[in-house]
Amino acid sequence: MMLPPALAAPPGDPVAGREKADTERCLECHGAAGEGQGFSNGADGKFAKLGGQYPAYIVKQIQDFRSGKRKHEFMKMMATGISDADLADIAAYFATLPALAGTPRAASATAPDAMAHPAARQLYAQGDPARKLPACIACHGEGGKGVAGVAPVIGGQGQRYLEQQLQDWRNGSRNNSAGGVMNQLAAPLTDAEIESLARYVSEM
Ligand code: HEC
Ligand code: HEC
Repeated sequence: MMLPPALAAPPGDPVAGREKADTERCLECHGAAGEGQGFSNGADGKFAKLGGQYPAYIVKQIQDFRSGKRKHEFMKMMATGISDADLADIAAYFATLPALAGTPRAASATAPDAMAHPAARQLYAQGDPARKLPACIACHGEGGKGVAGVAPVIGGQGQRYLEQQLQDWRNGSRNNSAGGVMNQLAAPLTDAEIESLARYVSEM
């Protein structure tokens, strides 16, 4: 399959990338293992986990932060501060890490319940034909592992981050998906559905 140019990441050097992610301060917020750090690695965290994310997706987001297609003051500054060569290496480093792993479950937490969040499960796997909502799984795949060149990994991403992104897609403050696909998808979702989807996907 031919990938659209924006999604075909240039090859990078993950060893150099580890070093650069450290000196460029990415690890301060995104974590040495790409797991999201400190505050972000808890229920309130809104810093994305990057470990195991597709490098082409990381590259696209940084380009979008730079150009202002995706709006975030701080990430714009970080994105503008690195060269394309550094970016390729940093993206390659995060890609070598285990997929969005890392939010350690509290010892007291119960194991994820496969039957939890029935409404979110249904939306994820089947969509909602009545509202012409396609299933998330069609693009984000089984277990939210994403599909290279199609859609990012979302399974295991931080719950609050996911919730924020879905709200941003719905209200249009994030609008950098090709053809506005995520805006159209999120538009009909209710607050309860967003909350439930964020929880369900974060526990994949
Ligand atoms: C002070 C904290 C901080 C630092 C340092 C930082 N980031 Fe971020 N990053 C964030 C936050 C917060 C977001 C979420 C922005 C949003 O809500 O849209 C983010 C989002 C991202 C995303 C988008 C993730 C996704 O799943 O869409 C990428 C990629 C990223 N950062 C890469 C980097 C890189 C590379 C560096 C180093 C050059 C870096 N960040 C440094 C806080 C930080
Ligand atoms: C037609 C394909 C498609 C479908 C169906 C789809 N998505 Fe997406 N989604 C994408 C693409 C492409 C992106 C990345 C957009 C970009 O370039 O920033 C994305 C991004 C996201 C993000 C942001 C990830 C991040 O790291 O910031 C979330 C959250 C998300 N989708 C959730 C969902 C949910 C929940 C559903 C089902 C209700 C869904 N998506 C259905 C294609 C799809």
